[in-house]
Amino acid sequence: MSGKRILLSMLGGVGTVYAADFTFQPPVTPVARQIYDLHSLLLLITVTIFIVVFGVMFYAILRHRKSLGHRARPFHENTTVEIIWTVIPFLILVGMAWPATKAVLAQKSTRAEDMTIKITGYQWKWRYDYLDDGVGFVSHLATPTEALHSASAKGTHYLLEVDEPLVVPTGKKVRLLLTANDVIHSWWVPSLGVKQDAIPGFVRDAWFLVDKPGVYRGQCAELCGKDHGFMPIVVDARTPEDYAVWLAARKKLAAASADDPNKVWALADLKARGEKVFQQNCVACHQANGKGIPGAFPALDGSPIATKDKPAHIDIVLNGSKRNPAMAAWGKQLSDTDIAAVITYERNAWGNHTGDVVQPKD
Ligand code: CUA
Repeated sequence: MSGKRILLSMLGGVGTVYAADFTFQPPVTPVARQIYDLHSLLLLITVTIFIVVFGVMFYAILRHRKSLGHRARPFHENTTVEIIWTVIPFLILVGMAWPATKAVLAQKSTRAEDMTIKITGYQWKWRYDYLDDGVGFVSHLATPTEALHSASAKGTHYLLEVDEPLVVPTGKKVRLLLTANDVIHSWWVPSLGVKQDAIPGFVRDAWFLVDKPGVYRGQCAELCGKDHGFMPIVVDARTPEDYAVWLAARKKLAAASADDPNKVWALADLKARGEKVFQQNCVACHQANGKGIPGAFPALDGSPIATKDKPAHIDIVLNGSKRNPAMAAWGKQLSDTDIAAVITYERNAWGNHTGDVVQPKD
């Protein structure tokens, strides 16, 4: 470690800079460790070559700086030298390609998994479905982006948190199936050695096996629109015993919060739920005040959408409009109760339909 720190500090030209700040996050999976070692090896080789080549060049310049006007010694081919400068780079390249190939093969080897999690990218959040256990949830940004923007305007640093992290067991091979609902995203957690694009219409796989309990952080790594910078990934790795406890609790919670499609809701409950759904799903485009973003996202406040009759309002949320076909993506990811709640909220907040209730069965 210390040799690498010295090398990196020399590269930066600043002896006081701690090289750990520049290097990778500590690896916690076999693949991440392979990538880390490969990176260290390549850095060592390239820095060594850099120092030798530039060392010889500067030595020659300085040593012979008074020899201006002298004629170079004329000589033609030298087979020994040519063999040496062909064979040495060849061996260096093979020495680099061998561990690189091994790392790529390890990364792609998704067979013999212990469990499978499907990951779906949305603008701008991740959904996790535990395919073996029937548990699934969306992991939202925990703080509204406006609050984060104003914090960063004041120069405050913050950590991007989610309302619910991806919980996984340690010591188990977790296979990931990645896709996306709208545009291309990329699921990237450096400590796990996983970076895989999530592409609409395709399923790609990846895997990890975490060997140390802990919280590992990542971020969407494919520019995916306005809030691309606010799609954090938080992975909470627990021992198999703790994971089993979490899974049982999560299943109970899912069963308890499952909605009865025929329930008749009170206005206040539906409005409160709708406000939460709006904050988590709609606020990025339509804004908290319902004014939208002129020219890009339509206003709901007093707009033809929220003031329309119920069936037309429901139709736009479910299927989008001619101008905004992308809206249909939201209709697909919300439950009937959530859709009823958000429409009720919008109509009461901005549609001049005070007291109007849209029930899930509508
Ligand atoms: Cu999702 Cu960038």
